[in-house]
Amino acid sequence: MKKPNIYISKPVPPEVLSYLEEHASCRMWDGTGTASRERLLSELESAEGLLMPGGGLIDRELLDRAPNLRAVSSISVGYNHFDLDAMSERGVIGTHTPSVLDDTVADLVLALMLSAARRIPELDAFVKRGEWQRGKGLAEDANFGSDVHHRTLGVIGMGRIGEAIAQRAVLGFGMKLHYYNRSRKPEAEERYGAVYSSLEEVLSVSDFVVMMTPLTPETNRMIRKEHFALMKPSAFFINASRGQTVDEEALVEALQTGVIRGAGLDVYDPEPPRGDHPLLKLPNVVTLPHIGSATHATRFDMAMLAARNLIGALQGDQQVHIVPELRHLAEGKPE
Ligand code: DGY
Repeated sequence: MKKPNIYISKPVPPEVLSYLEEHASCRMWDGTGTASRERLLSELESAEGLLMPGGGLIDRELLDRAPNLRAVSSISVGYNHFDLDAMSERGVIGTHTPSVLDDTVADLVLALMLSAARRIPELDAFVKRGEWQRGKGLAEDANFGSDVHHRTLGVIGMGRIGEAIAQRAVLGFGMKLHYYNRSRKPEAEERYGAVYSSLEEVLSVSDFVVMMTPLTPETNRMIRKEHFALMKPSAFFINASRGQTVDEEALVEALQTGVIRGAGLDVYDPEPPRGDHPLLKLPNVVTLPHIGSATHATRFDMAMLAARNLIGALQGDQQVHIVPELRHLAEGKPE
């Protein structure tokens, strides 16, 4: 059987490449980082499969340049960069990498909560600048932080990652938990005493609000000025989902005017934020460069899973992680 042609737009580890080469005829971007949009468009003429990191848009323009494309596999759990209507019309399957990153992202969310509440980057910089002098510094009220343990956590978007956050927060830090989600999660309620709440209640009772919802048309700009106004002035806002789930201007205003105490952010709209973005100037904001899943082990697992998804999708295997909105393509059903 002839091997399908695939293009890999970001170098993958050798083990992942060997697996792909067993099953496909591969071309891989050999520069640093990810192939540029222009390069990607010029590489897709004969490609039947595309393996890509999360982020680059799969839209009509790209699909027009890829007449043979049958499957796109993203090395990410989020797939808001897929134009689902366009892919559905062209019969192009999209896959993603759920589950393998849950614990890693949950670890990072706890790190953001702790860093923002205990002001770790700010105080690290203070010590490194040589400003910690005996009798001055650590014991000063000005450097005190906020407790995380036994406080109330509100999770917006209680999927697999939300549950991994709940496990750490409730079992590890003795936190109370409220959550807002499209559907109830009886297991999370039973295991972690999670209280199913309205969005307004989650915002108003929580000391830490964690945004973990996928970006969809319904969650775009879900949190706006009126939502920050519901939060406690002592509360922290953590976002590890997608920057577009929040009105960033409203977030900046809430942080600048003391409507909320601080924030921990891994995501922005757009990414990266421009150099003079006010969020980068605020001492009460911890900023990370979208590294939720970025450990060596987890990124390896994600790349391997994405490779298996791509080969499986090209071979007609319905067990691979096809995004739900495009599953009908693999099942041969109408949308
Ligand atoms: C994901 O997997 O969606 C992470 O946000 C990395 O893009």
